[in-house]
Parts: sequence; structure tokens; C-alpha cells
Amino acid sequence: MKLGIVILAAGQGTRMKSRRPKVLHELAGRPLLRHVIDTALELSPERVVVVYGHGGEQVRRAIGDEGLHWVEQREQLGTGHAVQQALPALEGLDKVLVLYGDVPLIRARSLRHLIDTTESALGLMTVDLADPTGYGRIVRDEAGNVLRIVEEKDASEAERAICEINTGIMLIGVERLRAWLQRLSPDNAQGEYYLTDLIAMAVHDGIAIHVAQPEDPVEAEGVNDRAQLAALERVYQRWQAEALMAAGVTLRDPARFDLRGTLRTGMDVELDVNVLLEGEVVLGDNVRVGANTVLRDVTVEEDVTILENCVLEEARIGSGSRIGPFSRIRPGTHLVGGAHVGNFVEIKNSTIGHGSKVNHLSYVGDTHMGAGVNIGAGTITCNYDGANKHRTLIGDRAFIGSNTALVAPVSVGDGATIGAGSVITRDAPAEKLTLARAKQVTIEGWTRPKKEEG
Ligand code: UD1
Ligand code: CA
Repeated sequence: MKLGIVILAAGQGTRMKSRRPKVLHELAGRPLLRHVIDTALELSPERVVVVYGHGGEQVRRAIGDEGLHWVEQREQLGTGHAVQQALPALEGLDKVLVLYGDVPLIRARSLRHLIDTTESALGLMTVDLADPTGYGRIVRDEAGNVLRIVEEKDASEAERAICEINTGIMLIGVERLRAWLQRLSPDNAQGEYYLTDLIAMAVHDGIAIHVAQPEDPVEAEGVNDRAQLAALERVYQRWQAEALMAAGVTLRDPARFDLRGTLRTGMDVELDVNVLLEGEVVLGDNVRVGANTVLRDVTVEEDVTILENCVLEEARIGSGSRIGPFSRIRPGTHLVGGAHVGNFVEIKNSTIGHGSKVNHLSYVGDTHMGAGVNIGAGTITCNYDGANKHRTLIGDRAFIGSNTALVAPVSVGDGATIGAGSVITRDAPAEKLTLARAKQVTIEGWTRPKKEEG
């Protein structure tokens, strides 16, 4: 069976009250439409067709064209009209699965179930909702056969009481679809071409309507406003948290954990509350991450402890290192291993050698630091001259006294010691003490000023 998937994404999303097209709003850091496309691709269809309209170019640019057929629906005349625009792109296919760009949690397993169990030309995914308000209702006869779908705005009071609703997800034989779409008319409360009218047509043509339900009813929930978006974000985050815990990760509170990207973990990883992970994050064996820490595109090797309130971005943290609390590690940083980075320390685009320590109040940028170095409190690498960035080299076992400014380009040799408060503008030789500061003087006979009388 040659399967095509059509994703309807042309709607305006007025209730989001946004300049951004609805399907580009993000769930767990990915556009809603991207979720649906990724799920569609899991089913290995012959073709994925995205029907776009509102904010079209923006949507195409954000999603990228890879492996997708884009079809424009210039005017949004309804879901039936939208599928009609996709028809030319469905040439040569047997069946088409219709998905919605604003129903992001639908899972491939549930879709697979619909596909595998539908033998006729029409399969329909429905769910029972305690509150069916706003959805199309599934009208059945006394024997339980599906007769038609009625939209809320067209429904009688009795029909509105029906709790079985249309998820909008349908599997339709392409040949039948062509014929049925030609017969649609906008003769309804919204003046739209309803895809849902296909059900009554199929019944009229003697086609058995097959009904399947998703594993979890929440999969069918759509995003129409920001409150629904936030609610689905929580559902998605709970799913991710459950999967991680099942894989052996300790989450101190799964309700206070967010992953917006991908996470690979070793054994016995522990995450305290309010940890936020973005992009591609790798945490090795025995990594512990303290409360309120953000990791974005970071690889952390085994036995690393990251304490509370740290922000790490595009960095690699070698095994046995300890970071935080209150450390900021910026892109291009590599802690080789066993390093300590403490509070109010910022490190950017630098290599920190094995066992080196930068424990308090320092800025280290564009620096190559050897092993066993000790950086005193308040040390700053002055890497920017107002026009260009320059590098600082610090040799193995160097000891940099507190409150030192290393004015780059500059190098400090192996085993060198720099006296506290120095401004180092020229290279400091290995194994020697270098000082660069005014000599201490004491002024004899000086008295403190006194307040003038009167
Ligand atoms: C639709 C269904 C309803 C179902 C509900 C499930 C119809 C007539 N109604 O109602 O039975 O319970 O979804 O969420 O199908 N779209 C287009 N072009 C258009 C119109 C819509 O691409 O001209 C897209 C939208 O972007 C959206 C989807 O189709 O992704 C659904 O459209 P929407 O207007 O939200 O339909 P509902 O009124 O929610
Ligand atoms: Ca909708």
C-alpha cells in the first residue's frame, strides 16, 4: 500500500494573538508543525504533503524543504478545500492519512494502529472527551454504525451532547477521495468545505467507516490558544520525564524538568529541580546537575558535578570536573577533566587543562590553560582591545595571584607565579615570580582631613 500523508497547516490561528503563524509556535523547543512532520516521517510514507497558507514563506523557511511537498492554499476555505489543494501531489498513491499541523502530540503508534486496522476506504480517529466543546461530534445509528460528523456550529442540542469527537485524523483511499471532494459544498454554518462531510458520503456509497482511537486521548488535543499550548507542553515534558526515569535517570521532581531537544544519558545521572536542557545534551555516568541549571548543547563526561544556578552552552566538560554554583560556561569551552570552576566565573572559548582551578569571580576568555593551574579570585583575561580579540596562554602549574589582569596577547610560562594585583602586559617567564604593580608606599606625617567648623 502506497501511503501519502497530508498535513493541514494553512489555518490562521487567530486565537494565538500572534504575528507568528500558529504552526511555528514551539512545543519543547520545536515548532508544532515539526512535531507532526517528524511523527509522519516515522511512518515511512511515500510522500508528505504540507498544505500551507497563512504566513506561508515564513513557515517553509522555518521548517526547511527536506523531503516535503509544499502546497499552497491561498484562501482558507475549509479542511476539505485544503485537502483538495493536495490532490495533484497524491498522484499514484493508494491511501492518504490526513494530519493537522496544530495537533502535535499524536504518536506514530496510534497512527500505525489506524493504518493497520483500516480495511475500507475510510478510517477515522475519534476520542471520547468529558468536555467535547468545539469539536465535531461523531453521529452513530442505534446499531453503533458511524453515520456522519456534525460540526459544533451545525449541531442540534442532542448532537452536542455526544462525547465522541472527531480528532480530524482520517485515512482515506485516494481514488474515493477525489470523487468525494468534488461533491463537497460549503452549505453549512461556517460556509466552508468540510472534510468531515466525507463520512456521510462514504456511508451513502456503502463504505464501512472504520474507527480507531489513539492510545492516550491527549494525543488528539489541538493547540488553538496559548493556554492549550502550555498545557500540551506540560504533557510532552511529562512523557519525556517518564521515559528518562524508566531509562534510569533520577529526576528530583519530574514536574520541574524541561528538555527542549535531545538528551543522552549514562548510568546514575541525577537532576535536581528546575534543570533546563536545550539542544543536544549528553550526560555521562554519575553526572549530577544542581537546581536551576541550564545546559544548552553540552557534553558532560562521567563523574562531573554541576552545582546550582549554572548556565553552560556549547561546551565539553571533562570527567571529574566540578562546576558552580553560579558559573557561566560559554561556547567553545573545553574543561579537559578534573577542573574546578566556581562561583561568578565566566569562561568563554577556552581550554582549561586537567585539574586546573578557577574558583572565584573570574573572566577567562580565548585562553589556553595547561594542567594544574590555579587562578586566583578576580583574575581577568583582557582579551578584547576594542577592535580585536587576542589569546592568552597559561602554562602548566602556573599560579595567578588574585585580581590579576592578563592583557592579551600574552603568555604565562609553566610554573610561573604572578603576584596579586598585577597587570601583565608582557610574557611572564616560566618558574619565576612576576609582579606588575605600583610599589606599596607609606606616607609619613599624613593626617586625615577634618570636617570644617561653622
Ligand atoms: C476540525 C474538524 C472537527 C474536529 C477538529 C479537531 C472540520 C470541518 N472540522 O475543526 O470535526 O473535531 O478539527 O481538531 O474539519 N486548515 C487548513 N485550511 C483551511 C482550514 C483549516 O489548512 O482552510 C487546517 C488548520 O490549519 C488546522 C486544521 O486544518 O491545522 C483544522 O482546522 P480548524 O479550523 O482548526 O478546524 P476545527 O474547527 O478545529
Ligand atoms: Ca482546530
